[in-house]
Amino acid sequence: MEEVASKGFAGTKGSIEGPYYVPGAPHRGSHGAVPMRQNEAGTPLRWRGRVTSTDGHALEHATVELWQADADGLYSQFAPGIPDWNLRGTCSVDSEGRFEIRTIRPAPYQIPTDGACGKLIAAAGWHAWRPAHLHVKVSAPGHELLTAQLYFPGDEHNDDDIASAVKPELMLNPRPAPDGDGETVVYDFVLDPVPACTRLPSGGSPMLFHVRMDVHLPHDMDPDVRAETVAREKDYSQRLQRSGKWPHLWRIAGEYSNISVFDVESTDELHELLSSLPLFPYMTIKVTPLATHPSKV
Ligand SMILES: [Fe+2]
Repeated sequence: MEEVASKGFAGTKGSIEGPYYVPGAPHRGSHGAVPMRQNEAGTPLRWRGRVTSTDGHALEHATVELWQADADGLYSQFAPGIPDWNLRGTCSVDSEGRFEIRTIRPAPYQIPTDGACGKLIAAAGWHAWRPAHLHVKVSAPGHELLTAQLYFPGDEHNDDDIASAVKPELMLNPRPAPDGDGETVVYDFVLDPVPACTRLPSGGSPMLFHVRMDVHLPHDMDPDVRAETVAREKDYSQRLQRSGKWPHLWRIAGEYSNISVFDVESTDELHELLSSLPLFPYMTIKVTPLATHPSKV
């Protein structure tokens, strides 16, 4: 299904999302470490990369969302005893589209073998192993969302992945770090622009949407989580404003609400921008498409 959806794309190859994605991973800037436990087990991995469009220009408003298993092959938010958001982070890029993420090399793991999936695996005589991999979602305004997995050479399950998701283009090339502390790797992403055929006919005029957002944060929300989420919302919204995608942002006096105008290329792009807001899970959103008024002078 993923191959059919991305057929005709010229950018970086995608791969399946898998079951362990959780939206809203903490933002770590353009050069930072994903959240980790003290003395997180595993080989330190320093990953540098760049996000560009298919014509080569840097996508300075791109984000790279990373999630991965730990050195025991376990995911936070799914395995017990691991802090939420461990080894999950969202990286922005700098003005040249560059980012650096510090993490650890993940371990291979077996997919769950209970339920119908386990019966199928047993009946077919397969094993349940996936090779070690990093999961990413890479997004930028006006571009297709890329969901991919990156793999490590030499993994014994690269050739018999139970999910059949390994592609040679998604193979990393880790090297020993010059300072002797783990490994470094360089991997860049190229995103495909949203094709014109998915844009609504607009007669050449901008696609403007009036958007009202009402925020309802839970009263019992942890104060630190609340402060961190609001800070990420501010950072993300300011980057969108600077990109020209969010030209008007007005507070509604006396309410935790705003009236905004978005200037986007497609309804898909508007949805992507809104659903990426850190406060999105806590919002009621009303979208009104705007058209040119015939009496406008
Ligand atoms: Fe995975």
